[in-house]
Amino acid sequence: TARANAQNHLEIGGCDVTTLVERFGSPLYILDEETLRTACRQYREAFRQYYPGESLVIYASKAWNCLAVCAVVDSEELGLDVVSGGELYTALKAGVSPDKIYLHGNNKSVEELSLAVSAGCTIVVDNWQELKTLVSLAADSETSETAGGQPIRILLRLTPGIECHTHEYIRTGHLDSKFGFDPEQLDEVFAYVSQQPALLCVGLHAHIGSQIFELQAHQDLTSVMVQWLSKAAQYGLPISELDIGGGLGIRYTESDDPPSIDEWVKVICEGIIRACQRQGVAMPRLIAEPGRSLIGSACVTAYRVGGQKTVPGIRTYVTVDGGMSDNPRPITYQSVYRAVVANKLSAPMTESVAIAGKHCESGDIVIKDAKLPPTEPGDVLVVMGTGAYNYSMASNYNRLPRPAAVLVNQGDASLILQRETVEDLIRQDRLPERLVRREG
Ligand code: LLP
Repeated sequence: TARANAQNHLEIGGCDVTTLVERFGSPLYILDEETLRTACRQYREAFRQYYPGESLVIYASKAWNCLAVCAVVDSEELGLDVVSGGELYTALKAGVSPDKIYLHGNNKSVEELSLAVSAGCTIVVDNWQELKTLVSLAADSETSETAGGQPIRILLRLTPGIECHTHEYIRTGHLDSKFGFDPEQLDEVFAYVSQQPALLCVGLHAHIGSQIFELQAHQDLTSVMVQWLSKAAQYGLPISELDIGGGLGIRYTESDDPPSIDEWVKVICEGIIRACQRQGVAMPRLIAEPGRSLIGSACVTAYRVGGQKTVPGIRTYVTVDGGMSDNPRPITYQSVYRAVVANKLSAPMTESVAIAGKHCESGDIVIKDAKLPPTEPGDVLVVMGTGAYNYSMASNYNRLPRPAAVLVNQGDASLILQRETVEDLIRQDRLPERLVRREG
């Protein structure tokens, strides 16, 4: 819901972005509630349309986990994928029902597992060590009491051995991965799990990577997973869920052309249905865990322009008051974004510039090649599509306080993350007594 208003300013969720920056400061994450809700509904409706069995969409909250985001997604009846005690704690505090929370991670601590088990969440078990930890947790009477003496509900994560074309750091499905059991060990794992009354193994999980544009990889994944499923029956395991992970890419720039949510869900549902028919397997409860494609396009980051520097014959740098601390994706994955100047929407985009962050690091470039109108100090520069893995990967590098975030909807702007202050920055600092400087 981004558009130009009467003054030719960028308006999102009915709020003038320039006014939001005056009111809440910069940098500012501006999250459009309607866009987020629409994406949630698109996923749910597509599953309803293409899959005759039961399905559940769980939001991969690593993309952006905070109380308000959890609450919005929960109110759209999605579940939640969490990957740490911190994400889990936030989800529970936001009121998400534990039976819709799935805990991921390749090295979950005993504390994280205990919290999840006692709350009644589902654990996506990554490896042998974790299976054994869970068995001993269950044997511990205290834990089993808090879990109501119920067996622990688990899924098994497997590495499907599927390559996809995305950045090496965000590829996870190939066999040489730190995540999941090797499918070669499937018999061994099934045999072990079937002997553990404390574990209720209800399903299988795989995730092949992120920011994926090709549907083929997920289509291949469906038949691999149904093959695994058919094996489970031999061990008498009550496995009835398949969680096919997330990974659908979004459009960051004009040249990106990802499939739609509808197309992605359709390919997966049809793939599962076909594979089940071919292999004579009952249709599983189908789970998907998208992150980026739910929230990525729902947010923009607004900065104030500081000034510019021109290196004659080479390039002009336009500086903004944030950078790699609020959006580490360009420096980490060479990600490309698109920007507009919120208060100059009608001005012709005559300049080709680099948008530079304010960090003491030459690589801190938000956008290498941006097309902008001529800018002046104080202009509000807006980077689009920053909902996924921006706030959640933000840091305090150079001791910059993390930005505020507002949730906008129909002209209303609610603060959902307060801007950090310099006091926040030293809150956890401790000064040993012998270093305290005393006057006089
Ligand atoms: N499920 C699992 C097990 C995952 O590991 C991930 C992402 C997802 C679901 C959600 O994937 P999505 O739908 O968001 O693509 N920081 C990187 C992305 C890392 C993704 C990690 N896992 C980035 O900024 O591109």
